[in-house]
Amino acid sequence: MYAGSLESEHDTVWLMLQDDILLGAAVLMQVLDEAHLQNFFINAKQQGRGLGGQLLRHVLLQARQQGAGSVFLEVRASNRVALQLYQRAGFIQYSTRKAYYRHPDGSREDAILMKADL
Ligand SMILES: CC(C)(COP(=O)(O)OP(=O)(O)OC[C@H]1O[C@@H](n2cnc3c(N)ncnc32)[C@H](O)[C@@H]1OP(=O)(O)O)[C@@H](O)C(=O)NCCC(=O)NCCS
Repeated sequence: MYAGSLESEHDTVWLMLQDDILLGAAVLMQVLDEAHLQNFFINAKQQGRGLGGQLLRHVLLQARQQGAGSVFLEVRASNRVALQLYQRAGFIQYSTRKAYYRHPDGSREDAILMKADL
C-alpha cells in the first residue's frame, strides 16, 4: 500500500522520524479539495506521548495548504484512542458503516466515518 501511495500523484506519505527510528506515519489521498486519511499510526513503543496529535495537526495543516477543504477518514468503533484524537482535532462523526471490519474469529465491527472541515 505504501509503495502504491509513493507512486500515486494523489497521495502524500509523511514519515515522522527521530534519527533512524520511525515514530509514525500518515498517508493522505487528495483529489481537488477533498482528502482522505488512508493510514495513520504511531510506533507502538512511542504512543501516548502526544506524537499522534502532533503528526495529525501537521497533516491537516499541509492538506489545507495543498487546497483541501475537507478531510474524511474511517476508524474502528472500538478504537477509543484514535476516536478521541480525531475528535480533538475537529473531526465529527457523520455516519457509521455497520459490520465493516471483520475480525479473525469471524466477528464484525462497525466503522465510524468522520469528517473535518479545514
Ligand atoms: C491512535 C494513535 C495514532 C494515537 O497516537 P498517540 O501518539 O498514542 O496519541 P497521543 O499521545 O497524541 O494522544 C492522543 C489522545 O489520546 C489519549 N491517549 C493516548 N494513549 C492513550 C491510551 N493508551 N489510553 C487512553 N487514552 C490515550 C491521549 O491522552 C490524548 O488525549 P488528549 O488530547 O486528551 O491528551 C496510536 O495510538 C496508534 O498508532 N494506534 C494504532 C494505529 C491506529 O489505531 N491508527 C488509527 C487508525 S484510524
